[in-house]
Amino acid sequence: MMNCLRNWPEPVIRVQHLSDSGIRVIPDRYVKKPSDRPTPTTVLESPATEVSIPVIDMRDLYSGDDALRKKTAALIDGACRDWGFFQVVNHGVSHDLMRRTREVWREFFQLPLEEKQKYANSPSTYEGYGSRLGVEKGISLDWSDYFFLHYLPMRARDCNKWPTLPNTCRELVGEYISDVVKLGGKLMKIFSTNLGLTEDYLQEAFGEEMGACMRVNYYPKCPQPDLTLGLSPHSDPGGMTLLFPDEDVSGLQVRRGDNWVTVKPIPNAIIINLADQLQVLSNSNYKSVEHRVIVNSVKERVSLALFYNPRSDIIIKPAEQLVTAEQPALYPPMTFDQYRLYIRTRGPCGKSQVESLESP
Ligand code: OGA
Ligand code: NI
Repeated sequence: MMNCLRNWPEPVIRVQHLSDSGIRVIPDRYVKKPSDRPTPTTVLESPATEVSIPVIDMRDLYSGDDALRKKTAALIDGACRDWGFFQVVNHGVSHDLMRRTREVWREFFQLPLEEKQKYANSPSTYEGYGSRLGVEKGISLDWSDYFFLHYLPMRARDCNKWPTLPNTCRELVGEYISDVVKLGGKLMKIFSTNLGLTEDYLQEAFGEEMGACMRVNYYPKCPQPDLTLGLSPHSDPGGMTLLFPDEDVSGLQVRRGDNWVTVKPIPNAIIINLADQLQVLSNSNYKSVEHRVIVNSVKERVSLALFYNPRSDIIIKPAEQLVTAEQPALYPPMTFDQYRLYIRTRGPCGKSQVESLESP
């Protein structure tokens, strides 16, 4: 599969090293069209422009108090329908583990370029150290580098492709992802029940060998942050994303109507966003939400994005219980592999893919 994507069409430039070189003017390839640039007010790091997406305390789900459990599940349902984005606290993942994992990645990006280049990736799997999404020659580039790795299914996991330095990296990554995947599994049950499906419906639809992969995003300081983006608007192609960003520097923006709202990070919270395959399975009762990342000239930003995905070769289609005379099936059946080829080829393109599949 994806033989067509063997190599990048142009020499890869590491954004971090561009940033470290001290340039005052960013290369044209990173300059967005005026209509795509962040508006000056959102670039200001003013708390007034940051909005709190719903914050859900997960402790109440497991308190044994049925009324509290139902109330929390209803809050999650509301956040899914209204925002498609929320933050969870008391989520069960060790804060110490989360922080150590994020810091180990910050140290990885601070290693000399030669060390990181050992993991340079190609578009055939995207695994490793990368600096672009999409293979089309001449496309606009985003102000970020990343490291992408596979965790599940087991047969896709190749720890030899994970960094050996810092020397705690592999171990921490394994522990961190294992715990975050468990959290994802709990949320899948809640989403299923909230949609009126059996508790295991969505997880079963993802197949026995579900996918889990992580992209560690590194957004270097940028001398002209108002001209570019750290990550262009996109919805995530998979099931859901569990994100742990730096908390002292914001950057994530979520589309709400015609506006972009900046997410105010809460220490130790995990940001959850619904992605395209849950939109398809829920027959659009839940929607993936477009988001993007802005950068700044003061501080670099690291985020860990765990993608909780269906098995790559399983057919995903709207749940039959959610297909009715009033709401016929909106999406054609398709495997996740077929689906994600689009973003891997063209790079981030808003919600154009999932919307292009919708029946009129
Ligand atoms: C992503 C993403 C947001 C962020 O990796 O898909 O949207 O804040 N990341 O880094
Ligand atoms: Ni995303």
